[in-house]
Amino acid sequence: MNVVVFGAGGRAGQAVTAEARERGHRVTAVVRDPARHGHLAADGVDVVPGDVTDAARVAAVVRGHDAAVHAVSPFRGPEQGFADLDPDFFVKAADALTGALSTAALSTAAVPRLLVVGLFANLVGADGRPVMDDPAAFPAQIRPFALAHTAGLDRLREQRTDVDWLMLTPPARLAYDGPRTGRYLVGGETVPPESAHLSYADLAVAVVDEIETPRHHRTRISVFNL
Ligand SMILES: NC(=O)c1ccc[n+]([C@@H]2O[C@H](COP(=O)([O-])OP(=O)(O)OC[C@H]3O[C@@H](n4cnc5c(N)ncnc54)[C@H](OP(=O)(O)O)[C@@H]3O)[C@@H](O)[C@H]2O)c1
Repeated sequence: MNVVVFGAGGRAGQAVTAEARERGHRVTAVVRDPARHGHLAADGVDVVPGDVTDAARVAAVVRGHDAAVHAVSPFRGPEQGFADLDPDFFVKAADALTGALSTAALSTAAVPRLLVVGLFANLVGADGRPVMDDPAAFPAQIRPFALAHTAGLDRLREQRTDVDWLMLTPPARLAYDGPRTGRYLVGGETVPPESAHLSYADLAVAVVDEIETPRHHRTRISVFNL
């Protein structure tokens, strides 16, 4: 399959790119500045420039692909602050991606697939509130990012689109250097048990599984290991 990965230079994006290549898919790796991501170029991986909020560019890049992966984050860590965070970032990304994939479908007849990496902060806790509303479970200072992320999920849900989207939400403990076990559990809207964890490698396994064999449609799932 032909898979386009936005945010391919990031932790999730690199893991998805590696997993997809391992399984024999061709990957278009979209980064903002290819000069900074030369190491991504490999047999079967084309590195191209693109900003996920640039609708025209996204439309040009997704053409000819069977699935798009949104693994972009405008937030690197608390030290970055939120002065530059656009609260509509994830809404713009959702609009650009679904708009581009809808247009692509006009010429291919297939229903395009969009896989989006979510944020645990908007999973629902035992008290019925999103995790981000509980300061004991989620740092209040990161709330602006969680709100922006949630707006993107809401946008996907409210859009009238034929795009077959799916958001995969990891647990709070998502480990960059964790092993690839090839196993994961799938949950729904509620936060998984406290012992839940996941490696980026296994998150990528779940993403590529859903590309190859779509099982969940136009919804959000949580993905974790115990
Ligand atoms: N426990 C959790 O729930 C959890 C934990 C971590 C991450 N996440 C989520 O997982 C997703 C991926 O996170 P990650 O950890 O892989 O982040 P990351 O390592 O910081 O990578 C994010 C990538 O996004 C790219 N990017 C930023 N702005 C962009 C734009 N406007 N257009 C295109 N690309 C852009 C950056 O690329 P360049 O700067 O190189 O262009 C960067 O490589 C995010 O949605 C994040 O919120 C969830």
